[in-house]
Amino acid sequence: MINFILSDADSTQNLGLKLGELLPAGSVILLTGELGAGKTTFVQGLGLGLGIKDAIVSPTFTLVSEYLEGRLPLYHLDLYRLETTEVNQLYLESYWEGIDVPLGITAIEWAQRLPDKPHQYIDIHLSYLPEKGRQATLKLVGNLLINLELLL
Ligand SMILES: Nc1ncnc2c1ncn2[C@@H]1O[C@H](COP(=O)(O)OP(=O)(O)OP(=O)(O)O)[C@@H](O)[C@H]1O
Ligand SMILES: [Mg+2]
Repeated sequence: MINFILSDADSTQNLGLKLGELLPAGSVILLTGELGAGKTTFVQGLGLGLGIKDAIVSPTFTLVSEYLEGRLPLYHLDLYRLETTEVNQLYLESYWEGIDVPLGITAIEWAQRLPDKPHQYIDIHLSYLPEKGRQATLKLVGNLLINLELLL
């Protein structure tokens, strides 16, 4: 587990950017944190790190956005408007298993609504700091070989 103090939105983006540069195909990032905690901001940085030039906006209504122009495809999901039972029927595993789509990076906002989690994933929880800024807590779940020191 590793904690990051993110004093402004750029710092949140930067954390995403570094991960976007180094993560391998098939990586899943599960994002949690209350409204406005910075989940989309993080994914915007992730897109920059992958070399995606398209603007990344929150797929709150579309559920998923696919960006195919970067080093790897980015699948950006937002489960905010869904119930866990609905999420179950969507077969979202196809994104991180690369079934029917090229294997890429999957980033999921409101991931607590995901009933069946992947075997391995990066858990990122964003929370508000009392004065200003945010804190990110990053955990590697499963058998992931990522050198977290590269993020410091
Ligand atoms: N570390 C930070 N410090 C201060 N402001 C930040 C930080 N990170 C992001 N923000 C700002 O917080 C606001 C909300 O960010 P964002 O939309 O990324 O949150 P979110 O978690 O995706 O929200 P939602 O729950 O609605 O999806 C934006 O104005 C963003 O610039
Ligand atoms: Mg968002």
